[in-house]
Amino acid sequence: MVLEKGTTCVLALCGFHVVMAVRNVAAGGKLKEELLQKMPNARIDVMEIDLNSMDSVRKFASAYISRGLPLNILINNAGIIPATKFTFSKDNIEQVFAVNHLGQFLLTNLLLDTMKKTARESKIEGRIINLSSDLHRRGLEKERIIFYEINDKKRYDQFIYFI
Ligand SMILES: NC(=O)c1ccc[n+]([C@@H]2O[C@H](COP(=O)([O-])OP(=O)(O)OC[C@H]3O[C@@H](n4cnc5c(N)ncnc54)[C@H](OP(=O)(O)O)[C@@H]3O)[C@@H](O)[C@H]2O)c1
Repeated sequence: MVLEKGTTCVLALCGFHVVMAVRNVAAGGKLKEELLQKMPNARIDVMEIDLNSMDSVRKFASAYISRGLPLNILINNAGIIPATKFTFSKDNIEQVFAVNHLGQFLLTNLLLDTMKKTARESKIEGRIINLSSDLHRRGLEKERIIFYEINDKKRYDQFIYFI
């Protein structure tokens, strides 16, 4: 989930039912059709999520759970690149931190019970994959994320919050 094209393609080829969690449903639908032309038997769904909004993340998780789908692999791929200028999420949190960390953490947390249930029933251990950047070293080594100043524009360092 929250996938890019290459990952979706490979997982679908391997027989996985892939749910693409995307903010642009029209673009996601187009990609789905493109992949289905090459792999007519692939199981691909598109569902809307905006990691910039906790409300949207909650709606996604609720819709996913209400469909009764299992969940064995969660791939938190989406991310905003460091070139992003300082701005706020829908919840008034610095946007890069909100999208790259909080939105994905909330999503994972909301889907954790579904993952545990799937693992128990399938007897296959689940996997949560968080994509990140080598830039994380900079933040960790220098302890540069100051959480209580996360919304302070003067302290903003896009390369630290990106990690
Ligand atoms: N490319 C690199 O060199 C590199 C290096 C280090 C780490 N990474 C990591 O690899 C992952 C993917 O990077 P990439 O280069 O493939 O980036 P990308 O091409 O910019 O793709 C990022 C994806 O995130 C989605 N996204 C952005 N904001 C979102 C939001 N608010 N809600 C839902 N989806 C959102 C984008 O959706 P839209 O299609 O709608 O824009 C896009 O599909 C990221 O986690 C990144 O940190 C990449």
